[in-house]
Amino acid sequence: MATRAIGFIDSGVGGLTVVKEALKQLPNEKIMYLGDTARCPYGPRPVEQVVQFTWEMTNFLVKKNIKMLVIACNTATAVALDEIKAALDIPVVGVILPGSRASLKQTKNNRIGMIGTIGTVNSHSYLNAIKNKSPQTEVIELACPKFVPLVESKSYQTSLAKKVVAETLQPLINQKIDTLILGCTHYPLLRPIVQNVIGDNVTLVDSGAETISDVSMLLDYFDIQAPVSNETPQHEFYTTASTKMFEEIAMDWLPLSDIHVQKISLGE
Ligand code: SIN
Repeated sequence: MATRAIGFIDSGVGGLTVVKEALKQLPNEKIMYLGDTARCPYGPRPVEQVVQFTWEMTNFLVKKNIKMLVIACNTATAVALDEIKAALDIPVVGVILPGSRASLKQTKNNRIGMIGTIGTVNSHSYLNAIKNKSPQTEVIELACPKFVPLVESKSYQTSLAKKVVAETLQPLINQKIDTLILGCTHYPLLRPIVQNVIGDNVTLVDSGAETISDVSMLLDYFDIQAPVSNETPQHEFYTTASTKMFEEIAMDWLPLSDIHVQKISLGE
């Protein structure tokens, strides 16, 4: 069991921000990652479709005998986590509860901003998770549908990105928030721009990175952590679209010297 891989699924490259933290905190673990880039973004899609696509990704990695599944996509976590968790006999982790907990730990004035896709904002999953623990905390939600396409097209360091982020975040500027949840795993690639626009007095919470602490805890709890080894794990990356762009973003973002990405098909 312990030597089996941890599976990560996302609508595209966003979940690589979660993988980055896994490589740092859990260097012995083998990673299997699937990004459904051909059908990204999930954010504007109907709930039933996101649930179906998330199951297709899950089934692909379950057949590869993963020991744990991380739904490294907020939109998919919001609508499919409970169902998938109930159906699988391996631990399943989403990104919303870890991000919510981290934001409550961080805030001093109980005013938290949350940015995410239309799907995640409409689900109010962060708002509900935070209010369940701390009813007095105010959560100001904002959908940022233009952010994911900027990341998937590798435009996250461009002047266009600066303009789009500055315009989109305007409604949050005078809200007196002291904490902002990056409620989409694509957004950490825009982090320097978001920080610049929102100001240094607002602490950004990266939900995906927070999730890896939960993964680490569960590996210990179930006693399924990979044994210490001198060999670097042979990670596997899969995408449903062009491997070229995926590889470029992965090489830019991850501290790996060699990344081989395979193209696969889902839903056929
Ligand atoms: C998307 O596919 O729209 C973004 C994925 C996410 O919500 O993390």
